[in-house]
Amino acid sequence: MERTCFNTDLNEKNVGQEVSVIGWVSKKRNLGSLLFIDLRDRSGIIQITADESVSLPEIRNEYIISAKGKVALRSNPNLNIKTGKIEIIAKEIKVINTAKLTPIIIADETDALEDTRLKYRYLDLRRPVMQKYMDIRHQIKMTTHSYLSENRFIEVETPILTLSTPEGARDYLVPSRVHHGKFYALPQSPQIFKQLLMIGGFERYYQIARCFRDEDLRADRQPDFTQIDIETSFLDQDQFLTMMEGLISKIFKNTINYDVKLPLRRLPYKEAMDTYGSDKPDTRFDIKLTDVKEIFKNTTFGGFQNVEAIKAIKVDNVADKTSRKVIDELTLEAKKFSLGGISVIKREADQWTGSFVKFLSEEEQKALIDKFDIKNNDIVIIAAGNYNRVCPLLGAIRLRYARELGLIKPNTFDLLWVVDFPLFEKDIENGKITSSHHPFTRPKDEDLKYLDSDPTKVLSYAYDIVINGYEAGGGSLRIYDQDVQKKIFQVLGLSDEDIKRKFGFFVDAFQYGTPPHAGMAFGLDRLTMILGGTDNIRDVIAFPKNLAASCPMSGAPNVVDQDQLDDLAISITDMEK
Ligand code: AMO
Repeated sequence: MERTCFNTDLNEKNVGQEVSVIGWVSKKRNLGSLLFIDLRDRSGIIQITADESVSLPEIRNEYIISAKGKVALRSNPNLNIKTGKIEIIAKEIKVINTAKLTPIIIADETDALEDTRLKYRYLDLRRPVMQKYMDIRHQIKMTTHSYLSENRFIEVETPILTLSTPEGARDYLVPSRVHHGKFYALPQSPQIFKQLLMIGGFERYYQIARCFRDEDLRADRQPDFTQIDIETSFLDQDQFLTMMEGLISKIFKNTINYDVKLPLRRLPYKEAMDTYGSDKPDTRFDIKLTDVKEIFKNTTFGGFQNVEAIKAIKVDNVADKTSRKVIDELTLEAKKFSLGGISVIKREADQWTGSFVKFLSEEEQKALIDKFDIKNNDIVIIAAGNYNRVCPLLGAIRLRYARELGLIKPNTFDLLWVVDFPLFEKDIENGKITSSHHPFTRPKDEDLKYLDSDPTKVLSYAYDIVINGYEAGGGSLRIYDQDVQKKIFQVLGLSDEDIKRKFGFFVDAFQYGTPPHAGMAFGLDRLTMILGGTDNIRDVIAFPKNLAASCPMSGAPNVVDQDQLDDLAISITDMEK
């Protein structure tokens, strides 16, 4: 087909040249004897102008046409588009294919419901902003390939049909036709295989890896998603994080031309929770959690007595906007975190106001003023109870205020490492101990002594990279000492038989000269979201699932033929209506 260039290859330098372009009709306007067409190809839009001398077939939006003509300067430039100073004066226009009226408008601004967009995803993908996201995604991958190759990594694929991996979500299972009653699991990550590749002597591995997790979906979670998965041998934590900083800074530079200041800040987990109430803090605004337990040591208020933590945040200049309704919403939020409530006091006309003030002594009122440098129209929000509930609650509230008050400057980026995570988490309800990351994470040498006496005290060589409040990646140094690994499995309550069944082949492999190794995985989809400036992960995946884990376009998941079930020896006992 005749095509001399993509639309946005053309600029003022091409004025006078004969060109041929091809694409979809984005818009057309008749102006007397002139027809103007906005022609869209993958690169962007260019204006085609045709006068009466051109024989014109019928043209409608989304028809595919080719146009041949001369590049000319526009008399009324449109500076909103890249080719806005020029146009093509058509000599010939041909229709290559027609199109039905599209069910969604093909433009960046759309009011179509998301399920409609997903149903007609192939049309939604024509929107320039969607093409931009896919382009950023591609640039991230290309940068990853080149940076890691330069640093002597090699890409190795690992199986999709495999055994369950220990990332903590539910597995997607695939029944075996050959072995009735047995199932493959789709990998939640290539974790075990990449560690085996280290034992296999590869030293530096990476993979743009598809991962599958059956978990509740959110704006930044998909059931099948992609990781930039990395593992290295013989690097300590500092060397490894420095190498990863090189990658992330190249990704920022090559995609959005942003210079990341290195080295990145390293914030211990405890400090992140204490100060921001989150292990993925957005530190672009200044509301911080403050410990106020000392202020309330003589409190007469029952809710503040005998509690593990009392913490507070101050929000400037919102007392006049803090209505009963706002306080009710904050209380509802507290209930979501299984706390009884939340206390809000306002500073108005040099007085504390609000229904909670009656529980505060003179001394406490004064101490709060000093602690927070209170001015009129400020408010203080206080939460008391279990530390692991109080901190995340106030963390969520600080984020809510940042959004509502516009405290975060657009197009700013905040990158940091959160380090020194606890090795284990203890369920507040049932006391069960689980791995914070996965069971192969190496405990800090100096904390090994607590493994028996108080495992929740043990910190680990685990790190997450946090960008603008998103967990964009995470990893750890791995255990390479068999005795330590055995001990961790014991603390997790795994019997010898469990260990053999779940990880037998893996534990065996560790006996044959395992190098000290470390790795991490970046969430490719989340990185693309952050760099593309969207807060919806579905925008950066060509064919995503909706929040109900379905694909409105293909209809997956769907029923299968009885023959297929018979082959697998599966019978359905409870069918969704
Ligand atoms: P982790 O489970 O922290 O670590 O995952 C690494 C990164 O993958 C992204 N991510 C997701 N993105 C979209 N949808 C999901 N459902 C989803 N789940 C995770 C996040 C996260 O930071 N094997 C380890 C890594 C390692 O230790 O090397 C792992 O998978 O950005």
